Amino acid sequence: MISPRTQIDLFEFLDQSHRQLQRHLVLLRSTVEACQTQQPDAAGREQARQVLAFFNVEARQHHLDEENHIFPVLAASRNEALTAAERRLRQDHGWLEENWLHIEPAIAAISAGNQWFDHAELLHALEVFEALYLDHLLLEESLAYPEAEKRLLAYDRAGMGREMAQRRSARPANQATA
Ligand SMILES: [Fe+2]
Ligand SMILES: [Fe+2]
Repeated sequence: MISPRTQIDLFEFLDQSHRQLQRHLVLLRSTVEACQTQQPDAAGREQARQVLAFFNVEARQHHLDEENHIFPVLAASRNEALTAAERRLRQDHGWLEENWLHIEPAIAAISAGNQWFDHAELLHALEVFEALYLDHLLLEESLAYPEAEKRLLAYDRAGMGREMAQRRSARPANQATA
């Protein structure tokens, strides 16, 4: 796993998280579809466990990464389109969490080899979850990430310039270069 050490790595890390999200959305769908026609076998139960672990841990961590490091940059942008996008993306995280809480018990049941749930209801909840996630990822990739990246780079350049100027002005006058 890439660690978010620098700005470039940070956005690579976020992109990698989105690729993982998309892979797990596909796995989630295949888990749900497989149980419509057959009892889950050992491989199906294992896949359900992977999906559960991903959405319970990694996806929530990804949302926190964005809420802590990306969304505040948009909120502070003083750009109406970006602050509106930030509010929507935060709200989406709430809806996605709520949707996942509807789906999660059924996936936990599949992982344990049970199927007590209503299949049609699960399929419907999955469709809502997928549509919201795909829209959400698209808005982040097309607007939130590029705009946050631009602003973080600009912020750092300004910070570097400030530090250079402050260091020079703090130097005793007799050390100043002519
Ligand atoms: Fe997000
Ligand atoms: Fe995201």
